[in-house]
Amino acid sequence: MSPVVTCAINRNHEGPRLRHHGHIDHSPLIVTREAVPADFDRYFQEGFDALSPESRHMRFFTPVHELPEPVLKRLADVDGTYNGAVIAFDAALRDDDRHPEGRPVGVARWMGSQTGPAELSVTVIDEYQGTGVGSRMMDAMLVLARKRGIRRLIADVLRENVPMRALINRYRAVVQPSGDPRIVRYRVDI
Ligand SMILES: CC(C)(COP(=O)(O)OP(=O)(O)OC[C@H]1O[C@@H](n2cnc3c(N)ncnc32)[C@H](O)[C@@H]1OP(=O)(O)O)[C@@H](O)C(=O)NCCC(=O)NCCS
Repeated sequence: MSPVVTCAINRNHEGPRLRHHGHIDHSPLIVTREAVPADFDRYFQEGFDALSPESRHMRFFTPVHELPEPVLKRLADVDGTYNGAVIAFDAALRDDDRHPEGRPVGVARWMGSQTGPAELSVTVIDEYQGTGVGSRMMDAMLVLARKRGIRRLIADVLRENVPMRALINRYRAVVQPSGDPRIVRYRVDI
């Protein structure tokens, strides 16, 4: 399955959208494409290292230093149907050896489940948070999921995760019982 560039916009042309609280000192050129298994070996550790303890806490519900082997295995296992993902790069920071497509800055994914709808998650490295990367990946990931026959996703989000709740609410997400007072469970029909 060949990776497809789903969008490429230079934020210079997007008007006054800058909200980031990171330290980007250049104009990013964000591109997204479907993730393939080789991306995991190439980019996962670098992306994980670029997440603050707060971001890891929001994503994994604990400020993990290292992920357990079974979780790593599941994250790497993208087949584009049961588990699928979209990866984002800042193509303004391309270099031939390490980053031929640009610096990896985020991933949005769905992960299949045997007990219910697949679960979605979105992660943007701290420096790029609040600049629209999460929204771009979410758009691309939902289009891809729909193309692959998926019609419903769920997301478990920590109650205090204001950015993720703002993001998912744009997609007419419906709140469902989560069984855990710390977690808001959303259902997204696509
Ligand atoms: C949650 C996350 C994916 C959002 O991606 P992002 O690129 O930062 O978000 P965007 O710039 O696309 O903005 C999405 C929404 O969040 C809001 N937002 C972004 N950063 C914010 C902040 N620091 N405080 C409050 N709201 C914020 C934006 O205003 C926007 O809402 P709007 O459409 O109502 O304006 C990203 O912040 C992240 O990776 N966080 C850590 C990991 C995590 O929490 N993942 C979710 C697990 S399910």
